[in-house]
Formats: sequence, structure tokens, C-alpha cells
Amino acid sequence: MAGRAPADNAELPPAPSSELASEAAQLREQLNQHNYRYYVLDQPSIPDAEYDRLMRRLQSLEESFPALRTPDSPTQRVGATPLSSFESVTHEVPMLSLDNAFSDEELEAFQQRICDRLKHHEPLSYVCEPKLDGVAVSLIYEDGVLVRGATRGDGASGENITENVRTIGSIPLRLQGDDFPARLEVRGEIYMPRAGFERLNQAAREAGEKIFVNPRNAAAGSLRQLDSRITASRPLEMAAYSTGLIEGWPEKLAQPDDHYGILLQLKSWGFRVSEEVAVATGLQGCLDYYARLATKRDSLPYDIDGIVFKVNDLSLQRRLGFVARAPRWAIARKFPAQEEMTRLLDVEFQVGRTGAVTPVARLEPVFVGGVTVSNATLHNQDEMRRLGVMKGDTVIVRRAGDVIPQVVSVVLDKRPADAVDISFPTECPVCDAPVEKTEGEAVMRCSGGLVCPAQRKQAIKHFASRKAMDIDGLGDKLVEQLVDKGLVNSVDGLYALHLEQLTALERMAEKSARNILAALEASKKTTLSRFLYALGIREVGEATARALAQHFLSLEAIRAASEEELQEVEDVGPVVAHFVADFFRQPHNLEEVDKLIAAGVSWPAIEPVDSADHPLSGETWVLTGTLESMSRAEGKEKLQLLGARVAGSVSAKTSCVVAGSSAGSKLKKAESLKIPVIDEAAFVRLLKQNGIE
Ligand code: IVH
Repeated sequence: MAGRAPADNAELPPAPSSELASEAAQLREQLNQHNYRYYVLDQPSIPDAEYDRLMRRLQSLEESFPALRTPDSPTQRVGATPLSSFESVTHEVPMLSLDNAFSDEELEAFQQRICDRLKHHEPLSYVCEPKLDGVAVSLIYEDGVLVRGATRGDGASGENITENVRTIGSIPLRLQGDDFPARLEVRGEIYMPRAGFERLNQAAREAGEKIFVNPRNAAAGSLRQLDSRITASRPLEMAAYSTGLIEGWPEKLAQPDDHYGILLQLKSWGFRVSEEVAVATGLQGCLDYYARLATKRDSLPYDIDGIVFKVNDLSLQRRLGFVARAPRWAIARKFPAQEEMTRLLDVEFQVGRTGAVTPVARLEPVFVGGVTVSNATLHNQDEMRRLGVMKGDTVIVRRAGDVIPQVVSVVLDKRPADAVDISFPTECPVCDAPVEKTEGEAVMRCSGGLVCPAQRKQAIKHFASRKAMDIDGLGDKLVEQLVDKGLVNSVDGLYALHLEQLTALERMAEKSARNILAALEASKKTTLSRFLYALGIREVGEATARALAQHFLSLEAIRAASEEELQEVEDVGPVVAHFVADFFRQPHNLEEVDKLIAAGVSWPAIEPVDSADHPLSGETWVLTGTLESMSRAEGKEKLQLLGARVAGSVSAKTSCVVAGSSAGSKLKKAESLKIPVIDEAAFVRLLKQNGIE
């Protein structure tokens, strides 16, 4: 959305046709409208990528036919007028925008322009920074103290949001150290990390409140709160990327002569500077950086919409200067948009492992966030109502990070006359059992339980999955066939499969069938935490399963635990405790577990710990009685190798006791304090599992 240079028009400019003139007028009108929705109302109705396309079309028309450029053209201004409810402030040094590059060729052209202008033939040094997708902010520090925070607004003036920025933890209220300019302006981006955004929206969904379309929108909405307590409750962060106004540079402090030096200085004053920032040389260095960040983009904890490349040398920056509202020495190389527009063809209702009925939008395929998306979640019935989505609608789809693609809004202007209402089913689309709503929950669930083939399939897929029983080769398609053909009705049924049943399936060669049987056999040797996770108890993810296994050490102990006892496990609250206890109260679940054990599923008595370095760090162990295979001193040494502290007596703080033969009072005390006790054989197994013989 950057401003562009007015073309040099020494020659007589060509005259535009009337069609082009009316196209330009229409674009201006549209862009102004979108600009207002985006900047003033925080309610964009089209994705950024679409806005950029409209803007580029208008820019190119104006470039070819300068007569089309009017003073009210959105290409002539960046941003929008501030809301009247905040005090307006003038930026002493205007806040500029950035020009965009949408391809490697455009980036190359940018660097060529710079080198030509500077008559520079060597590759230049550039600072590469992720372009955080948030809200630009200006912070003024006087004698090291934060006195004003302001939004960028239209670049010339913005809104005074001092009270709100003060609530953001990553913004220093006072600069670190003793040396800083008398007046200093720091600029950067306030943004909301994805995890915080998802949490905020989840809570809003549960409360039936308005949700935010994306993290940038959420950051903008949070900053525009007149009540700064609301801002304080929002997960906002700030990363600094430049300085603005500087008065009275301290004598004792060397003045940076490159942009990277400024970033380091900002860091030492206590600002967060993106950890991804790097210096690159020439076009190739920039292209490599772009490629590296592009592959990392999905795993970053925040949204970035591109890379900003800035000429590092400040004296070269000064020589290059500015064009309209953007510097000549910087450019934003954009990534594929994370939001795009497409048509919703239909909605299907999927039944998950716990019976949750999820509406899934079938979409006209669209390239978004770097992949082609043809399905997106609509979450639940409330969300469908909130969106007011109809079959045939044009919708905005967002795909960012590893979060599954979602429909975030409907473009109402584009609703066709023949759009069709979508109703949420009252019966399970798979087994016809009634779909029910649990009090206090947004989701609707199929009441069919494991009678419902969909729930059964999901339960089996989960059981076989990599982090559960890890049954190699037993993919989703195969599970579906096995259930559809009635060969497997429950997880234990997997272990009863035989070769002829598998080879009779479509496209199943004998070798693959044998491999699957071998994988099934191998999966029987597992760990307690994997087994617990594989059971698919509601709210018991991998981490909870591990915590339960490490706390109780045996399945029997977990089975027998009361809800209160379960809550003694770290991170297990009343809800999880209830689901666990409830699972082990149901006779059909107990029967299933017993059948699995009868089929040969087993795990070592001691849960292997994941951390490779010091698996027992933080734990206190006690050795008692006589060990056959080693002396007590050796045992102690081995425990210490695993990171445990070894104590001479048992107390409530003891993590585990190793009891050799003729163990006496320490064993009794451990038993009375309900501290886990293992025998020598289990101890040796534990050592072996951790590579100690
Ligand atoms: S520099 C003179 N650096 O992008 C250069 N901007 O389109 C001014 N942004 O308003 C900006 N990350 O909100 C710069 N590392 C970064 C940035 C960044 C995000 C935003 C900022 C600015 C917009 C320009």
C-alpha cells in the first residue's frame, strides 16, 4: 500500500480513454471505501492481497496516464484519518511507508535502481528484517522516560495511545543504561503472537463475542481501546525496527553509522528486536534470506507478511533519500498472502473422535499462505451463525502457520442472488443418532458414541497415529476400509487381523500386508504414556498422558485414582481429572483396555523420560537395601548421571525409592508416604533405557 514516485513527464503525456478514466474513478472509490473500513473501522471486507491488486492497478493506470492522478487518489495518501476519540498528535519526523516487491525480479529491479543511483558496482550490504504484521508505533522518550506513544495514522499525524502502549510488557517505560539522547523516538511494530490470538478468539467464541479476523486486526482493535485495562489484558508485543526523531546524542555513546548498529543500540536500550534480523550482501544474499525465512514462516510464533530489506549504510541511505512517502533505500518483499478470497461451494459436516460435528467448507481451490486450499473449517454452529455464511458466498480464507485454514468472513457485497442457506444437521450425518449440545459447550456432538462408524474410525486412526501406538503403514485410508468392511470394530480388533483379511483388500500386496502385521506386532511394545494417549481420553493430549504416566507410574494406579488424586498431577485440573476418571469408570473402556493387554500390549515399569541430557533432573531418589548387580555407590553414581539428586533418607520430597533385597524402614516410610518404589530389575531397565549399563 505504498505511495509511488510521480513519473517524470517531460514529454506530452498520453490521454486516457474514457473506459480507463472510469475504471480509475471506480478503483479510487473502492480503495477509499476499503481504506476506511480497514483503518478507521478495523473491519476489512477484502483480504490485503486483493487490496494490493486494486492499488497496483490504479498505480499502473496513473503511471501510464498521469492525467488520471487526482488529489484524492488513495495512491496519494497512506493510511487514514485518526478516530476522533483519541487525541491527535503530529509526527515531528513523518512516518513513512514502504514500497513493495512481489517477485524476485522486482527485488532485483529495486537493487539495480539503487546501484545506478549511487553509481555503485559492488554488492551492497542490506539489513534483512521480517515484516511483522501488526500496527506501526512511534514512542517518544525524554531523558530516557517514555512520554508518548502514537499510532502512525496517515504518516503525518496519528493517535495518542500512550496509556495503551504503557501496558505492553515489551515496551520499556525507561531506557536501560545511562546514555541516551535527550529526546529519542523509537519506531516499531506492535503485534499479537498467533498463540495469543488463537486463545483470545477461542475465549470470544466460547463467550459468543465478536472474534477478530487475524492477529493484525486484533492488535489494532486492542490498541484502539479507550480503556487501557482492556489493552492490558491482550497479548500484545512490540518489536523495534528504527529510530525517528533524535535530539542530543550523548557524547559518551558512539553514533551508529549503519542501520544494524541502530538495531543493536535499540536492543541495548531494552527493546525487543526480531531475533531473525540479519545482514546480507547483494541480491543473492537477500534472495537466500528470503528463501530461508519463507520456509520458516509457518513455524514462527507470529504472522509476517514479507521481508524488509534496508540499505545498511546510513550515509548511503541519506544519499538515496525518498520518493513520495517511501524511502528509496528500503523495500518490502511480500510473501504469498495469508488471506484470500474464494467461493464457498458447499458445507460438509464431519464427525470427529469425540463425536464433535464440525462444519467444513468446501471451497473453490485458492492459493493462500503458500499452499492451495480447498477445505476450511467453520468451527461450529455458533461460528456459522456469526459468519452468516451461505452456499455460493464469496468468503475470506485465512491460512497461517500450522493452524488449519479457516473461513474468517463473508464478503456480503458479492453474495449471489441464488445463495442457499445452510442448516446445521440435527442427526449425525454418518450414523443418524441425534446431534446434541452439551450445556456450556459450543460444539454439537453425535450421541452415537462408538456405535457411530465415524467416531470409531477416528478413534482407530488416533490409536494408530505416530505419537500414539505408532503403527507404521496403518494410514487413514486403510482404517476406513477396515471399518467399512467390518473387519475392525474397535482398537483391539486391529491385533486380531490376519494376512488373508489384509491381502483381500483393494491394492494390498502380500508384502505390504506382512509389513502392516509386523508393524502391529512391533507397536505392542510401547510406553505407558503412549498407551494412555492412544486411548483417546478426552482432553488427554501427549503432555497430559506423559504427566499422568510419570506421576502414577502404573496403569493400575491411574485406573484406581480418584478425581482429587488425579488433580495432584501438574496441569491436571478438574475437567481433565473428570474425563480421565470417567473414562476408567465405563465398563466398555475397561474391557477394551483389558483386551489390548491380553493381545500383548505392554510397557516397561518405568516410564522413559524424553529429555536426552538429564532425564531425572529435578528429582530426588533414595537407594535402600542390597543391590545384587552393583554397589549402592555405583547405583548412586548412575542416578546422578541421569541428573537425579540422591538422598540418604525418605521424605515427602522424594521422587522415587529403589528398593534392593532386605530393604527396611526406608521402604516402609516410602510406602506410608505413597512414594513410588521400584525394584532392582526395574532400576536396571531404567538405566538401560537411558544408555547406562
Ligand atoms: S520500516 C521507512 N521495518 O510495514 C521505513 N516497517 O509498509 C518504514 N513494518 O508502517 C518502515 N515490519 O508498520 C519497517 N521491520 C520493519 C517492519 C515494518 C513491519 C510495517 C510498518 C510500516 C509498514 C510499511
